[in-house]
Amino acid sequence: MVNLNPISHLILHLLLLLFLASSGSGHGVPGSCFEEERQALLSFKHDLADRSGRLSFWVGHACCQWQGISCNNRTSHVEKMDLRNTYDDTYHGVWNYTKYKQFCLVGKINPSLLRLKHLSYLDLSQNDFQFVHIPKFIGQLTSLRYLNLSYSSFAGEIPSSLGNLSNLNYLDLESYPYRNGVSSKNLNWLSHLSSLKYLYLGGVNLNRMGVSWLHDVNMLPSLLELHLLDCQIDGNQLPLSLPTINFTSLLVLDMSYNVIDSSFPTWLLNLTSLKSLEHLDLSAMYLQGQIPQVIGRLCKLKMLNLGFNQFSGGLEEILSGFSNCRDNGGW
Ligand SMILES: *[C@@H]1O[C@H](CO)[C@@H](O)[C@H](O)[C@H]1NC(C)=O
Ligand SMILES: *[C@@H]1O[C@H](CO)[C@@H](O)[C@H](O)[C@H]1NC(C)=O
Ligand SMILES: *[C@@H]1O[C@H](CO)[C@@H](O)[C@H](O)[C@H]1NC(C)=O
Ligand SMILES: *[C@@H]1O[C@H](CO)[C@@H](O)[C@H](O)[C@H]1NC(C)=O
Ligand SMILES: *[C@@H]1O[C@H](CO)[C@@H](O)[C@H](O)[C@H]1NC(C)=O
Ligand SMILES: *[C@@H]1O[C@H](CO)[C@@H](O)[C@H](O)[C@H]1NC(C)=O
Repeated sequence: MVNLNPISHLILHLLLLLFLASSGSGHGVPGSCFEEERQALLSFKHDLADRSGRLSFWVGHACCQWQGISCNNRTSHVEKMDLRNTYDDTYHGVWNYTKYKQFCLVGKINPSLLRLKHLSYLDLSQNDFQFVHIPKFIGQLTSLRYLNLSYSSFAGEIPSSLGNLSNLNYLDLESYPYRNGVSSKNLNWLSHLSSLKYLYLGGVNLNRMGVSWLHDVNMLPSLLELHLLDCQIDGNQLPLSLPTINFTSLLVLDMSYNVIDSSFPTWLLNLTSLKSLEHLDLSAMYLQGQIPQVIGRLCKLKMLNLGFNQFSGGLEEILSGFSNCRDNGGW
């Protein structure tokens, strides 16, 4: 042990205090945060126009208390950023586009975000990023469990770097199906997201992706919800078969508004292995032929939409299938 005299002991003590004050969340101020993370948030704010003024309260040192920011209450690291558009569309019961735009954050996403090393929740939905690509660097936020960039005016290819977000449970990239909106030429990147439970890609243009996508989705054994509404998937993107269905816990499958214009995809006939399915929406797909009877064996179904198809024949067989469900504790 080093033997210190009282004076050097005192100096060491003071140095230690100084060190703690400058590097830690220190100051004893409630809601105070790490200086580096505070600076990162200020840089992020600096690149955004904020007509509704909701970031104008991002002042002072207590950045854990800033609107939309939450910290871990033990470590004080910023863990959550929820900057979803706050426009309340129930106001007067009418959705007012002009008003909605006023609540948008407009501009670019500063890479300073990467200094928030503990960020696990990021919601930037319904803002206006002016049709730039989703930044590649988002794929470096590897602590993320929740990522919501829906309806935020992004365009172009989804960066494959998102495949690095191996802790993601929720991914929402839904968008309006603009001609030059968000697209993905394959879903290879998706197959690495082994923790994913909720996937929303509605409105994303998947028209060029070929049939391999289903194999990529099949690498996600924890998947609970798959939303592919209006993705411009057509007959050319539908695989004929799938040897084994991995995502057997699936609760929600929405493939509506993808115009297939052929008979029922045969891999969907293997849906009987999806014993948990509660919500099945295959509407507006212009499917032809008989309605497969296996649907009547999905005993957990609460919502079934087969509207706007070209089925021949009746529903009786399916309905009689459901009537056998009572035995398994279903209907
Ligand atoms: C800390 O946060 C957790 C969850 O985020 C919460 O359950 C807990 O009550 C909080 N503790 C304190 C002391 O605020
Ligand atoms: C929508 O909001 C704008 C801005 O507040 C207002 O000027 C306009 O009258 C509103 N339009 C409607 C149809 O309520
Ligand atoms: C993403 O945000 C939108 C609102 O902007 C919300 O409706 C949607 O449910 C969110 N997605 C998830 C997966 O929570
Ligand atoms: C992260 O994504 C990029 C693709 O943009 C890739 O080159 C890199 O190998 C990925 N890193 C890991 C760890 O997967
Ligand atoms: C099922 O998922 C596992 C990874 O979780 C993967 O190794 C396997 O190849 C998948 N099976 C099929 C048929 O895709
Ligand atoms: C259905 O699943 C079985 C194995 O469970 C497989 O042999 C068959 O090829 C599958 N059929 C289709 C059309 O995917």
